[in-house]
Amino acid sequence: MTHESRCIAVFDSGLGGLTVVHALRRRLPAEDLVYFGDTARVPYGTKSPETVLRFAREDCDFLLRFNPKLLVVACNTASAAALPELESSVPVPIVGVVKPGAAAAARRAGGRRIAVIATEATVNSNAYKRAIRELGCDAPVVQRACPLFVPCVEEGRDASDAIVQALAREYLQPLIPLAPAVMILGCTHYPLLRDAIAAVMGPKVALVDSGEETARGVEELLRQQALLARAETVGSLTCYVSDNPQRLREVGQRFLCEPIRDVTCVSPEEFHAGESAHV
Ligand code: DGL
Repeated sequence: MTHESRCIAVFDSGLGGLTVVHALRRRLPAEDLVYFGDTARVPYGTKSPETVLRFAREDCDFLLRFNPKLLVVACNTASAAALPELESSVPVPIVGVVKPGAAAAARRAGGRRIAVIATEATVNSNAYKRAIRELGCDAPVVQRACPLFVPCVEEGRDASDAIVQALAREYLQPLIPLAPAVMILGCTHYPLLRDAIAAVMGPKVALVDSGEETARGVEELLRQQALLARAETVGSLTCYVSDNPQRLREVGQRFLCEPIRDVTCVSPEEFHAGESAHV
């Protein structure tokens, strides 16, 4: 069997994509990962589709300098707004989080109602709903933006926090009479608030973590294309941010459940400089 030692490159609007990195590291511990968090421009979830597409293209251009074998768009908002365009312009395989999350939800729902919670931009794009329909699933879909969850997580609040719990009630209680069977956590940050979300929705609602599903899909794709790293190697994690590396080290640990040592801040000049000026 052949192996491929090039890295997997992952980007998100900020720190939240580390939940996807966490899932990738658990599933694929031999893989070298390069992560870019666009912390200078987060959040993407309140921005227009045009702006998100531009940012996503720039994030990909930056990561292509590392010669990855695969690109992962960990950000739901960027996956929703930009994946089709990126697929046709990026010269390596590229995976987003929307399709894997939608597929897992469709499988589990078995025709019953699916709820999608996400940023405003993701909800407005209808990307999850479209992906569910493209799978031939005609289950009813209800969507709800939960915009204050992201700043709560960025601020260090977790599922045990009273404000998070109040927000979860405010956002999610209106969905209870609709009795969804499945709820897609359609934003990088929401898995960290899983317990607060589950407490409102109750045990009958299956929560789908798009990041976890994406990691599963990445493993499958690498296996199919004989691109897996040699199993006996220990994969590295190298992180880049566009602002405040210290915050990634501190808050990022919570997303990743392991210390983050290797973090570099990329200046706007370096970020926009093109291939020759970097690495
Ligand atoms: N990463 C974004 C997402 O998954 C959440 C944060 C943001 O709004 O940029 O949709």
